[in-house]
Amino acid sequence: HKVRYYDFKIEYANVSRICHSKVLVSVNGEFPGPTVYAEQGDRLLVKVTNHVHSNVTIHWHGIRQWLSPWSDGTAYITQCPIKTGQSFTHDFRVNSHRGTLFWHAHISWLRATLYGAIIIYPRKGLPLPFPKPDNEFPVLLGEWWNGDVEQIEMDALRTGGIPNISNAFTINGQPGPLYDCSTAGVYMLKFKAGKTYMLRMVNAALNQDLFFGIANHSLTIVGVDGEYTKPLTVPVLVLSPGQTADVLVTANQHRGRYFMAAKPYVSDAVPFVPIPTTAIIEYEPTTYAELFQPPVFPSLPANNDTAYGENFFQSIRSLNSKEYPVYVPQTVDRDLFFTVSFNLRACPPGQLCSGPTLTKFSASTNNISFIFPSISLLQSYYYNIKGVFSPDFPDNPPRPFNYTGPVMPNPQPKVGTKVDVIHFGSNVQLVLQDTNILSLDGHPVHLHGYSFYVVGQGVGNFNRSKDPANFNLIDPPYRNTVPVPRGGWVAIRWKADNPGVWFMHCHLEAHASWGMEMAFLVTNGKGKHQTLPPPPKDLPEC
Ligand code: C2O
Ligand code: CU
Repeated sequence: HKVRYYDFKIEYANVSRICHSKVLVSVNGEFPGPTVYAEQGDRLLVKVTNHVHSNVTIHWHGIRQWLSPWSDGTAYITQCPIKTGQSFTHDFRVNSHRGTLFWHAHISWLRATLYGAIIIYPRKGLPLPFPKPDNEFPVLLGEWWNGDVEQIEMDALRTGGIPNISNAFTINGQPGPLYDCSTAGVYMLKFKAGKTYMLRMVNAALNQDLFFGIANHSLTIVGVDGEYTKPLTVPVLVLSPGQTADVLVTANQHRGRYFMAAKPYVSDAVPFVPIPTTAIIEYEPTTYAELFQPPVFPSLPANNDTAYGENFFQSIRSLNSKEYPVYVPQTVDRDLFFTVSFNLRACPPGQLCSGPTLTKFSASTNNISFIFPSISLLQSYYYNIKGVFSPDFPDNPPRPFNYTGPVMPNPQPKVGTKVDVIHFGSNVQLVLQDTNILSLDGHPVHLHGYSFYVVGQGVGNFNRSKDPANFNLIDPPYRNTVPVPRGGWVAIRWKADNPGVWFMHCHLEAHASWGMEMAFLVTNGKGKHQTLPPPPKDLPEC
């Protein structure tokens, strides 16, 4: 296995989009940031140096960080932020995945501009479970704000209101020609007739689930969240923030130009810019006359087409082959049930609140709205520093109610830094239930330190006595980010074999900012392969 070195300089870059110039925080001046390549089993050493005024951390989304929790890059969970002038070297192995993942900033809203793809090739000797593509391209979907993203979050938290929506959606950092001032620099892919291409798809948007399609071409999904799946051919891909997919596209159309496009999949009356982001596929050779034909536009579902979205997510299956087996826990040691909710909190004294009737928007898990500690949870656990967190996160909501029934009188969430302690080696089952405490909405929930099997999902209230009978314990998808359906639930399982403190949160940045976050503390097992290693020497201090 190889050791691969990457140098990530966090620095300012001047970028113009949609008739607007700004200075943004980048890695090595690139927007989106560089692609990280690895072969399964490789060791990565990534030195992150902060040359900007903001605090930063970089997270390797979907990398399990098995026995390397200090490299997870989650601000105030596994490390303190890297301050101006400091650097920190992440040191981890890429053991458990193949396919596409991504890295992004994990502090404030900086991941709006600090993100890039991670591409992992399978271990030598493992055959690809699909025909080898002729070429591959990262396709990162994102959101662009004309304003300063750190300021947008701070303003929303200060006033208690809803944060500003983005000004554009992007494909590889480009809004595409349907936006003003955006014909230059449009992302363009060249296709040769008869060839097959792999798109390394990432939804790096902050606050929107997205539909993605290519005019006249179907998409064959062969992997999600860094693990191969049974091939699934669809007209349109659905990706929640934090999700990734390996998609094969065959160049089987007439010469000419075709749009690929993405637009929001919104399950609620959430506002968004109504212009799809587009990029162009151009067949080579294309004649001069063909270049002047307008590209063909894909047909995408209506923004609120939950039938398409739900059916899409339920159709994905693990490969479950000899080379790529699944290890779905068949028994459960910890049975957890978490509600994910919006709430209103009374405006704290002395604060200016503009929310309805002087309240603050907030969000919670089992009615607890997460508060970041001032030193990292992993450090405080490792050094046994008291008073940083409490180990009493509840296994169930405070009391059962009709979760998806009529909007409830708003119970005030509790605020706190609580963790759920899990014993090493336990098989965990977690049901995540959306609620109508304030309004129903979908939540792409992401877990650090693990991938999990999505064994079931449904609409309405989870029924503990009926629903488990229908769980898929044979070939469920293996993911790191799962959408809790609007007004519904999902059930996930994993084996807690990675000691450390692992964040779990909604990957919609607005919901996370409001407190839809919590952490699991997985205890040490016995022996060196089950125990937390000591922190690296250059781990940033708070
Ligand atoms: Cu992709 Cu906790 O993040
Ligand atoms: Cu959410």
